Amino acid sequence: MIELRDVTKVFPAAKKSPGAGAPAVDGVSLAVERGSVFGVVGHSGAGKSTLLRLINYLETPTSGTVLVDGQDLGALGERRRREVRRSIGMVFQQFNLFRSRTVLGNVAYPLRLSGLSRAEARERAGEALRFVGLDAHARRYPEQLSGGQRQRVGIARALATEPGVLLCDEATSALDPRTTGEVLDLLRRVNGELGVTIVLITHEMEVVRSLCDHVAVMAAGKVVETGGVHDVFSRPAHPVTGTFVRSALHDVPDAATLARLRARHPGRLVTVPVGGGEDLSRLFREHDVDFTIAHAGVTEVQARTLGGVTFELRGAERDVAAVLARLTAEEEVVAR
Ligand SMILES: Nc1ncnc2c1ncn2[C@@H]1O[C@H](COP(=O)(O)OP(=O)(O)O)[C@@H](O)[C@H]1O
Ligand SMILES: [Mg+2]
Repeated sequence: MIELRDVTKVFPAAKKSPGAGAPAVDGVSLAVERGSVFGVVGHSGAGKSTLLRLINYLETPTSGTVLVDGQDLGALGERRRREVRRSIGMVFQQFNLFRSRTVLGNVAYPLRLSGLSRAEARERAGEALRFVGLDAHARRYPEQLSGGQRQRVGIARALATEPGVLLCDEATSALDPRTTGEVLDLLRRVNGELGVTIVLITHEMEVVRSLCDHVAVMAAGKVVETGGVHDVFSRPAHPVTGTFVRSALHDVPDAATLARLRARHPGRLVTVPVGGGEDLSRLFREHDVDFTIAHAGVTEVQARTLGGVTFELRGAERDVAAVLARLTAEEEVVAR
């Protein structure tokens, strides 16, 4: 549905600012399949927003090719490009609603721009508001709504023109955890029921975990890692990815937790991934090693379980060492 080929964006350098002249997006190639939910994660300044704006040509690439639905946006005339852009909805962190327009008026606005009559626009806007569960609020003003409701209006507005693609720029970053959940549920329906391809950028790996099927990790303008969400969560290859993954998984105790565990558990601590298949009770028994479960962290990623259990092992030193040797011979086991 979307393909970027070696896309680079260099902004004209603001003089004397540090890092000026460095590309905001640097040689990025990626492909987003039709019907998928593709997450782009990265720290602030990594180039995520610029990347998103390149997809609908709100930013013109300095070099490289952007294809949407097979069409090379750089090769299209301005009129055709506007039509393609209209088939791409966009949702923003700060909602970007008109304060002086009603909820219905906000959602109808892009429809009026696309040439629909007032009556048609209101009809379609009403449908979009029903989809996001806000038809009862049509005559209110954005200020009278909560943050989560405002974002649902933003999503209704983006959906009103029936786009095939929805681009979300930190759509939940201004929301509290509960309303974040509501908006993510809604985006899941947008994808599942309407078949809309979603590209969302976020600095929260938790959003990627709960919603996306594919993810790209950005650092300093480059995509440093990309893949299926479960694969990236279970085997992060790049250090930046590792940091993000650990923020959403609690499979391995962090340093503070480990210090607390150590105070309570004098034996050797070892963290074993859930679902590893090894018969641990037998292994412990064979070596005459006792164990206690000291810590466990388990998370669902793409309907599969990912997590770790931390055991305290107690026994003769060489027996414990023998168990550890067996466990750490396995990949991904963290012996402490
Ligand atoms: N319009 C612009 N003009 C100049 N520099 C920009 C512009 N937009 C973004 N940048 C720069 O590009 C880099 C990436 O920014 P951005 O894409 O907003 O990152 P992110 O969304 O990951 O925080 C930053 O260094 C930022 O200062
Ligand atoms: Mg941004």
